[in-house]
Amino acid sequence: MDGKSGMGKDASRFLRRTPLCNPINLPTPMADISTSAADKKEKEYFSSIPQDAPGFFLKGSHQYDWGLKNRLSKVFNPKDGRTVMLAFDHGYFQGPTSGLERVDQTILPLEPYADCLMLTRGIQRSVVPASTQKAIALRASGGTSMVSLMEEWEGEIDGKKAKFSRPGFEPLSNESTALSIEEAIRLNASVLAVQVFIGSAYERQTLKNLTDLVDGASRYGIGVMGVTAVGRAMARTPQYFRLATRIMAELGANVVKCYYTDTEFETVTSCCPVPIVIAGGKKLPELEALQMCYNAIQQGASGVDMGRNIFQSDAPISMMQAVRGVVHESLTPDEAFQLYNDLKAKGTR
Ligand code: 5RP
Repeated sequence: MDGKSGMGKDASRFLRRTPLCNPINLPTPMADISTSAADKKEKEYFSSIPQDAPGFFLKGSHQYDWGLKNRLSKVFNPKDGRTVMLAFDHGYFQGPTSGLERVDQTILPLEPYADCLMLTRGIQRSVVPASTQKAIALRASGGTSMVSLMEEWEGEIDGKKAKFSRPGFEPLSNESTALSIEEAIRLNASVLAVQVFIGSAYERQTLKNLTDLVDGASRYGIGVMGVTAVGRAMARTPQYFRLATRIMAELGANVVKCYYTDTEFETVTSCCPVPIVIAGGKKLPELEALQMCYNAIQQGASGVDMGRNIFQSDAPISMMQAVRGVVHESLTPDEAFQLYNDLKAKGTR
């Protein structure tokens, strides 16, 4: 990131500290974003008071037009305001990652248990039956891959050779929009998903991707989901997610996706004026993943947009139903885990 638009002192706190990190090359500090003069007062998140949405079931969505409300009602169940989105768009930068080698074999059997399918247009056209009744969350940004390297170079410290890298400069964040609005209409998308890399080299560009998609999609009543992408150099803290999710909502995202945090997650959901869904992240033991879903829902998430913790499970169809139980049937993590084990024992894959 350049010194002008520079990452502030506070933003530098989001950076993961790695041996490769070169503090000398961190951008010039600017005002501390969390303790600027205006922020000196202690923060109050009102986490126990739900935000009003008079006349509509979904947070922040009551003043939208009919078409957008209708599309969001396909993603989120109007009975409880929650969603189980099945994320399998990983191939757009990871290729055939584990569990997604054959989407027709591993993902289509999960489709009946999802409220919404999060995917790329390539997989939608080539694999997903057009007769599906599920809402579509269509990947609308891309252009980089997991083999794009972080910027690294060799230098010297006190006369000794050392390796340096610039966290936040990972080219993975160098995405563009990857879908026209006409294509989104042809594919009957309910929402468009766009990756936003706050604090990265391409923060500005990825925020522009978001606002461009919001401008295009809102002309036709299609929603936009801002996806918090945590670059390799960024720490997954509540402070970071409060910042990232709020910025996306302020810039027009109708739904925001982020990771769960073990502490203060209720403050992340509380200060984001639109629904938050959580990503699952790396594969966890099933009970832990169910516990995470439960905690997130209890702390104000409107659902999950989960991939690996479902399709990389030993029994993905059982896991999908267990996640559904937590999100829509208020099962506790133990009850959902029992359901998972019972289904698995009966031979449900
Ligand atoms: C790709 C995505 C994924 O859809 C997202 O990370 C959800 O998948 P998982 O639960 O496997 O983390 O947005 O960047």
